[in-house]
Amino acid sequence: MINFGVLDICQNLQDNGSFTIDNSDFMNQMIISGNTKLADIVMQDKRSLVLLPRFDIDLGFGDRTVKQVCQQKNIHTDFFLLMVNVFLNKNYFPDRKLKNLDVDMLLRYLENSHRYYLEEKIPYLETLIEEFKKVVKNPATLQLEKFFRQYIVEVKEHLAYEDQTAFPYVAALSEQIKQNAAHFDDIDYNIGVFEQRHDNIEEKLNDLKSLLIKYFPPSDDRYIRIRILNELMDFEDDLINHARIEDKVLIPIAEQLEKKIS
Ligand SMILES: [Fe+2]
Ligand SMILES: [Fe+2]
Repeated sequence: MINFGVLDICQNLQDNGSFTIDNSDFMNQMIISGNTKLADIVMQDKRSLVLLPRFDIDLGFGDRTVKQVCQQKNIHTDFFLLMVNVFLNKNYFPDRKLKNLDVDMLLRYLENSHRYYLEEKIPYLETLIEEFKKVVKNPATLQLEKFFRQYIVEVKEHLAYEDQTAFPYVAALSEQIKQNAAHFDDIDYNIGVFEQRHDNIEEKLNDLKSLLIKYFPPSDDRYIRIRILNELMDFEDDLINHARIEDKVLIPIAEQLEKKIS
């Protein structure tokens, strides 16, 4: 019999008597601590893989714990734990842990995530769509490409607004507090504006997914289509978790900073 070890706790008996192992449920229950081995986190939840470059962590860390890797890389362990727990565990709410969070580190982390989307994820998706157009001889590919291009424009606008307006605003707030400025510069913006317009870009991925799953006619090459869907779902997951960090960490922090200077 195969021994699934710790994953046994996640097996759900289904009506037909078979079972599935739901790793995401496992991670939802698990709060990662400084003593957790980093390799265990990655082995249990592949979503954590994309987080590593956001902290400048390379694979090959052996059996080192989160704390040991963070010390080696000069990352505040608490900051790493907060990000990873919010990203991987939808039931995790940071609450008071936000108080001493390093704002510069948070902004760098968010900007690194954006860079990953812009320099890695989106170009790869573009390559796949191009390949799809080449191998699938169907005029509907043009429709798919149009959909995709429109979506990417929206994603880029979303990221650009954050990079050029929201993040610099939070950085300026933090800088003024650090400088202990005698009087604070008037900034004609507040985090409420960001909160209001912070839409769910990941939701629009549904149209693209539906097109590929339900409506696009069957084509000779099945695998390229599955590859695109896999990538889209992966992107969707990443964007959802990224948005949670902006909503649950960035916005509350900015509100705290605003209170300090008001
Ligand atoms: Fe963002
Ligand atoms: Fe966002």
